[in-house]
Amino acid sequence: MKARAYCSSANLGTGFDIAAVALDAFYDEVEINLSEGKGDIKTEFSGPYSENIPESENTASLAAKLLLMLSNKSYDVEIKVWKGIPLGLGLGSSGATAVAVAKLLSKALGLKIDEMRLASIAGIAERAAAGSAHYDNVTASLLGGLVVIYSFEPLRAMQFEPKANFVLGIPDVKTPAQKTAIMRAITPKNITLDSLVQSLAKMAAFMIGLYSNSLELIGMAMEDKVVEPARAVVIPAYDRIKKFVKEAGAYGFTISGAGPSVIALADEKQANSVAKAMKEAYDYEGINAKVIISRPAKACSVDYSDKDH
Ligand code: HSE
Repeated sequence: MKARAYCSSANLGTGFDIAAVALDAFYDEVEINLSEGKGDIKTEFSGPYSENIPESENTASLAAKLLLMLSNKSYDVEIKVWKGIPLGLGLGSSGATAVAVAKLLSKALGLKIDEMRLASIAGIAERAAAGSAHYDNVTASLLGGLVVIYSFEPLRAMQFEPKANFVLGIPDVKTPAQKTAIMRAITPKNITLDSLVQSLAKMAAFMIGLYSNSLELIGMAMEDKVVEPARAVVIPAYDRIKKFVKEAGAYGFTISGAGPSVIALADEKQANSVAKAMKEAYDYEGINAKVIISRPAKACSVDYSDKDH
C-alpha cells in the first residue's frame, strides 16, 4: 500500500495557523513495512527533495512513534518516503509526509481512528520539523481542498472546495534547517486591540467569500497586519513582487506558510497572466524562481497499486 499527500499553503494571509489549502503542485508518497519487533522505526527518503532530512527525528518517524504508542502493538516499522515536495519553502512538505505516514500506518495497524485524530497526530509530528505543533498544513493535506480550523481541542475543521487557481512563486533560495521555527519566533506574540479587530474583519471576509464563492472577498482577506509584515522583511523583494502581481489582476497575494514561497489567488481566466507577472517580477528582482499554477488538491489517499510517480 502507498499513501499520497499533497503540498499545502498555510496560512492564507488571514487565519494564522487555522486556514490552509492543499495544492496539486507537488506530492509525497509513502510506503510502510511492518514486522514483529520492539518498535524500532527506520525512515528512508528518496526522490527529488530527499536531501538534508534528519534520519532520526523527522515528521515521518515522529508520526509513526505516536501511532505505535496509540496502538499498543509491538512492531518495527520501516518507512520509505518519496519526497516530491520541496523542503523548507513554505509548502507544507514536512506536514504532508507526516500525514501520509499517519494515514497509511493507521490503516496497516488496523486502527479505527477518525480523520481529525489523524490530523492531530500529524500536527504534533510537525514538532520534529517546526519546533512546535501546528495543524493547518496537515489538516489541508489530509482532507484536501481548503480548510479552516474552528476548534483545537478537539481538532475540528471545515472543508471548502473553491473554484480557484493558486499561483505559487517558489524562489530558489537556501533556507536554514529550522526555518519555520525561526519564522514563528519572529511572529509577534502580543497584538493590539486594533490589530485584533482588523484580523477578525479579514477572517469574516474570508469566510463570507468561501461561502459565497467570491474570489474577490477571499482575495481581499489574504493579508494581515500582524504576521505578514513581520515575516515579509526576510522574504526577498516581497512587497515589490506583491504590488506587481496584484496590479496584474491577482485577487489576493500573501506568503505561503512561513515562506519564502508566495501564493496568489486568481480565477481561471487570469491565472496565466498572474503567473506571467509573478515570473517577470522575480526576473526583474534578479531572483531565480519557479512559478506554478495550481488548484486545490485531493485528500490524502491510500491505494494498492504500484504505479510510478
Ligand atoms: N501556520 C504555520 C506558520 C505554517 O505560518 O508558521 C508553517 O508552515
